[in-house]
Amino acid sequence: MNATVREEKKKYEFVSIDTASPCNARCIFCFNDWSNIKGAIMKPEVFEKTLPLLEMTGYDGFYVSCLFEPTLNPDFSRLLTMMPESGRNKAFFTTNLVKKLSDEDLTAFSKANIDHINISLETYDRALYDRLTGTKGSHFYENLERLGVLAKENGMKLRLITMILKSNIDELPALIKKAREELSPVRHELRTPYYFKASKEQMDIAESELLPRMELDEKGKALFDAAGGADNIIIDLSNDLESFQKKRNEDFDTHITSSSERPGSANFRVRIESDGTGHFGHRSETKELFDLEKLDDPGKYFSEALVRLQSLEASNFFLGELSEKKKSLFSFAKKKEAKKPAFLTLPVELSEIRFPSSLDEAVLFDGRFLHLSGWETASAKNNISSKDRLFLLKDKERFLALKPFTVKRPDVANALSDNSLEDSGFDLVIDTNGLSDIKDLSLYSAYQTSEKLIAFEIA
Ligand SMILES: C[S@@+](CC[C@H](N)C(=O)[O-])C[C@H]1O[C@@H](n2cnc3c(N)ncnc32)[C@H](O)[C@@H]1O
Ligand code: SF4
Repeated sequence: MNATVREEKKKYEFVSIDTASPCNARCIFCFNDWSNIKGAIMKPEVFEKTLPLLEMTGYDGFYVSCLFEPTLNPDFSRLLTMMPESGRNKAFFTTNLVKKLSDEDLTAFSKANIDHINISLETYDRALYDRLTGTKGSHFYENLERLGVLAKENGMKLRLITMILKSNIDELPALIKKAREELSPVRHELRTPYYFKASKEQMDIAESELLPRMELDEKGKALFDAAGGADNIIIDLSNDLESFQKKRNEDFDTHITSSSERPGSANFRVRIESDGTGHFGHRSETKELFDLEKLDDPGKYFSEALVRLQSLEASNFFLGELSEKKKSLFSFAKKKEAKKPAFLTLPVELSEIRFPSSLDEAVLFDGRFLHLSGWETASAKNNISSKDRLFLLKDKERFLALKPFTVKRPDVANALSDNSLEDSGFDLVIDTNGLSDIKDLSLYSAYQTSEKLIAFEIA
């Protein structure tokens, strides 16, 4: 393969931990399904076991707390100090600041040396705050003011998250300005509520706060005006009443892999509950569950898991080895592609024709897992639909059959003035364990006739 291969160490995309899973609020838009949540508090010795993950995670990827309320963990300030200094710049947490927080706690937060603290700020109207958050006379505003001062003093970055709701949308232009003046957030995200599944009562209440598309578009303009083009103010108007209701009618499952996600790519998201149990990616795909309390060497476990998860990711692309003799492999391929003809018994003809193609990137993770991305036109030119594309990897006399993941490439279609090339992009993950050196491998796209497979070289 004539490609410049970049070597990288695989990291987890993010590690989402909750150090406490009750909440002292009941926001009317909250996506947590309270009927199914048993609150737990993470013990410091369990949190300690999450720490090897810090160096295995990418920037901004260590969520010390994200779905519930961390300040309800009595040891929370101590947990922050347990993180090694070297990895703290990847960490952050999200809080509602509802609980009365001591000067010591707020000082500890502001000096935690983590990347940032996320604060949920829905309104500056106290009565509305109580209604939206399901609290009464909370300590939110005084905590916010004190933390704002301490964060400035100690150089802690603050980010804000504000929900865009029926009850607060008219206030939001003023809220954006006030928050900017008083808190100087490094980022202020204003979002329309995501869809979630919970009890009928919880969903009805949330639905009553969603704005219809027309109103969002109309009132949204004032939000963009207030943001004044600042690139640290993010306004997401995408979730409207209509889409929430549509998903509700369809009973949309929020836990399935999105079709735009490369198969297995979500495996590298780690979820750790406050009771120390956890899983990787979409649980239904990776299947692997763990319990930190029972892990003696979490560093070894998580580092070995990275290899297992990459192997699982690569298996999504592997159809089988091409061979006329090895009938077992032939049947494996047939099982995977049940409705397909038995293409793996066919001989391969390497074509002299070279359709336009490009290998844009080749990255080898951990010396073993090869990620290839690029585009090729042979499939479209031979009328192979994007879901039926077939690639072959030639290794000496062997061919491995692979199923690429199709990526939209309007740039290629434009450049070559051919709309049929919209789906010409591909991503591929190959486990090179047991294969020859990468430079001795060749990649082809192939199509099948009744008696052979014709292969066109990509790289
Ligand atoms: C679930 S909370 C957990 C952290 C903490 N309890 C808090 O509210 O700040 C994390 C963030 O998600 C936001 N959130 C809650 N429900 C949401 C929804 N349905 N759609 C989008 N964001 C939501 C909250 O406003 C908060 O900023
Ligand atoms: S404070 Fe956070 S976790 Fe609690 S109810 Fe509100 S959004 Fe949900």
